[in-house]
Amino acid sequence: MEATKNNVGLELTAVDTVIPKLNELLANYQVFYTNLRGFHWNIQGDKFYELHELYEDYYNQFAEKIDEVAERIVMLGKVPANTFTEYLKIAKVKEISGVSDWQIGVNNVLETLQFFVSELRELHAIAIKAGDHATVSLANHGIKDFEKKIWMLSAYLK
Ligand SMILES: [Fe+2]
Repeated sequence: MEATKNNVGLELTAVDTVIPKLNELLANYQVFYTNLRGFHWNIQGDKFYELHELYEDYYNQFAEKIDEVAERIVMLGKVPANTFTEYLKIAKVKEISGVSDWQIGVNNVLETLQFFVSELRELHAIAIKAGDHATVSLANHGIKDFEKKIWMLSAYLK
């Protein structure tokens, strides 16, 4: 008899709805991670020290999130994308380079985090329907984390 459930007991048909959203999130995080490295390297001016450090802190956190999303895809029984060729096909986050102006960098980070919150809300709704609690939890944690960052960056920009 053909299996209808994956290793963690979720219906394969339900998982099929979650996977594309996780793959998209992975691709978006990877592009954003690389953008953050660029902001870290190229920032200039009187905010250099604090933002150089903040960007490093952020990209280290995103390295963890990338791993979490990719490993969730593996746990659901699929193969996560691991090339930039694939990421750039799926990602909605745009590559950005050569940003030395602190406001352009911080605004880009803020807008990207706002986009991620809306993506995570969509992922949350899909994962609920699929009965995939671990992905619901991943989405919840991301939303909580990003909403706090959005608050702080918005205050910083005032
Ligand atoms: Fe560095």
